[in-house]
Amino acid sequence: MTEPLPRFLVFEGIDGSGTTTQCRLIAERLRARGHRVVETREPSPGAVGRLTRELLADDPERPRSVDPACLALLFAADRLEHLRREILPALDDGQIVLCDRYVVSSWVYQSLDCDPQWVRAINREARWPDLTFVFDLPAEVGLARVASRRAQTDEAVERFDLPATQRRLAAGYAEVLARGPSEGLRDLVRVDASASIEAVGEAIFAELLRRGL
Ligand code: TYD
Repeated sequence: MTEPLPRFLVFEGIDGSGTTTQCRLIAERLRARGHRVVETREPSPGAVGRLTRELLADDPERPRSVDPACLALLFAADRLEHLRREILPALDDGQIVLCDRYVVSSWVYQSLDCDPQWVRAINREARWPDLTFVFDLPAEVGLARVASRRAQTDEAVERFDLPATQRRLAAGYAEVLARGPSEGLRDLVRVDASASIEAVGEAIFAELLRRGL
């Protein structure tokens, strides 16, 4: 029996790991192959996502100003709303959906401050993606990339931006990759995000071609 084509594709990793760039590049390459593609991200552009982003634009020196459990619930609520409003209709219509961040972001980021089992529980209703690319990158490399990006733009500082936090997040993603197979997590693909933009794009695209897209 042939495997069904993967159509719900997620990009995950620490800030500076390149998920946003690759989401855009892979969408272009898939469109060039004749696929219809929706590019989206979380927090989503919907009402709950906008509220979440507003609360995130926080002073990282005072990261307690929003209750972390409240934030975790908002990310999970945004996800269900995003699925219903945008992702599931696009999949039902036969399109490919590329999502920049999804459930694994909540597992990794919200588990910094909340019980990891609870974070998993509140995300249990969210449909699991067909493929999750996990961008593996040392925290120092991600931090350096974000610093140089920030020097060129007026991008706001967010609550997870402290170096010590980014190190814990990088460890969190590494742990998801290490434990994924034993936890029965389907279709988690490690990406070496320290390579060039072109090389990372090639690796992801090769994986998609291998899976029939
Ligand atoms: P991101 O897309 O990286 O924002 P930007 O492109 O504006 O830098 O996501 C915003 C932040 O939200 C990022 O620091 C990760 C965090 N986040 C969570 O903590 N949990 C989640 O479930 C998601 C989707 C994002």
